[in-house]
Amino acid sequence: MYAVIFGKNPLLSEAEFHAFVRRFNLKVGIIDSNRDWMVFNSSPKLERYFHWLGGSLKLVRIVGEGEDAIKELEYAKLFTVSLYGKNDWKLWRKLGSSIKREFKAEGSSKFFKPAKVYSMPAELILKGFPEVKDFVFLFREDGSFWVGETVKVTDPFELKKLDVDRPVQRPILSIPPRLARIMVNLTEVRKGSFLDPFCGIGTVLQEFVLQGLSAYGSDRDPGRIRDAKKNLSWLRKEFRLKNSAHLEVCDARKLKRCFRQRFDAIVTEPYLGEPLRRNPNRGEAIRLANELDRFYYSVFESFGDVLKRNGKVVFVFPAYRLSGGGIYRKERKWLAKLGFEVLGKYTDYEERHRLVRDIHVLGYRG
Ligand SMILES: C[S@@+](CC[C@H](N)C(=O)[O-])C[C@H]1O[C@@H](n2cnc3c(N)ncnc32)[C@H](O)[C@@H]1O
Repeated sequence: MYAVIFGKNPLLSEAEFHAFVRRFNLKVGIIDSNRDWMVFNSSPKLERYFHWLGGSLKLVRIVGEGEDAIKELEYAKLFTVSLYGKNDWKLWRKLGSSIKREFKAEGSSKFFKPAKVYSMPAELILKGFPEVKDFVFLFREDGSFWVGETVKVTDPFELKKLDVDRPVQRPILSIPPRLARIMVNLTEVRKGSFLDPFCGIGTVLQEFVLQGLSAYGSDRDPGRIRDAKKNLSWLRKEFRLKNSAHLEVCDARKLKRCFRQRFDAIVTEPYLGEPLRRNPNRGEAIRLANELDRFYYSVFESFGDVLKRNGKVVFVFPAYRLSGGGIYRKERKWLAKLGFEVLGKYTDYEERHRLVRDIHVLGYRG
């Protein structure tokens, strides 16, 4: 039995997890869940693939329920304690001390304090995980809890490296590598040809290439294609990869002029409009969204020309945080007219951005 701990956007992380399970054909039976975690049965194969999740933080092996389960934990000289569903340092200390008492027969042990009542993967790795252990308590609303040990973490240093060590960076305009990974999983396509037709400096392409997928990218701007090439050759060297991406200068509204084959999946963050100086009011947001929609309509027509039947699209539409509070998300009935079925919609935003990402997962019915 395992649990996953979701990252800062739990709804998106949960959707990614379900898509990931289908994508890698992992048999998973859900047992219990909360906003920030999910407990399930799964084969240990999951441990091998966990690395490829973008939106989860930890994979925890469950040892039991309630205080008795503490006896089942394996000895560690140095450990920490992570509580989810309870923000209570007194309880944190009490559980840590109980573990230490249980370990006494096997030797002395110490536990260290994380920044919050739970540790983050970066803290764990820096302390010496997996030798240094992380014992996890998952609380339900009624106060009962699951007990487990973290067996895998997603690697924040690798994701950071993909972002800030590459030769060409555009911090505000490019998509975070973690989100690129989530979007690839949302396609549920395990193997096949993947296209990013607004590739920019190539963040999504980096993820295709890292995963050994057949990678294609295009952008209208030849300068961006040069940037993407630089980043991809850096990636190949740093990660010792043999494969790369096929790149074209191409307008996303005219894809069939540039690509002869059909794709299994398109994953992209398109042009999202001019940067906003302030949050718009509702009327302004509707106008901005309508203007861009004319462009997106032609883009989706062009997707129809290069996608296989039942191919998938994971696409970031803009949504707007309104000056009066709330978010404006446009409904796009025209997608169905063009043969695209909306399979899921998830919002995501970064504090430093005005714009909200309205991530759509679509199936092309042709
Ligand atoms: C939001 S950026 C994509 C950023 C990318 N995800 C990254 O991480 O670098 C949008 C890109 O779309 C390109 N673009 C704008 N209009 C286009 C069009 N009609 N066809 C193809 N690319 C276009 C721009 O040159 C820009 O590089």
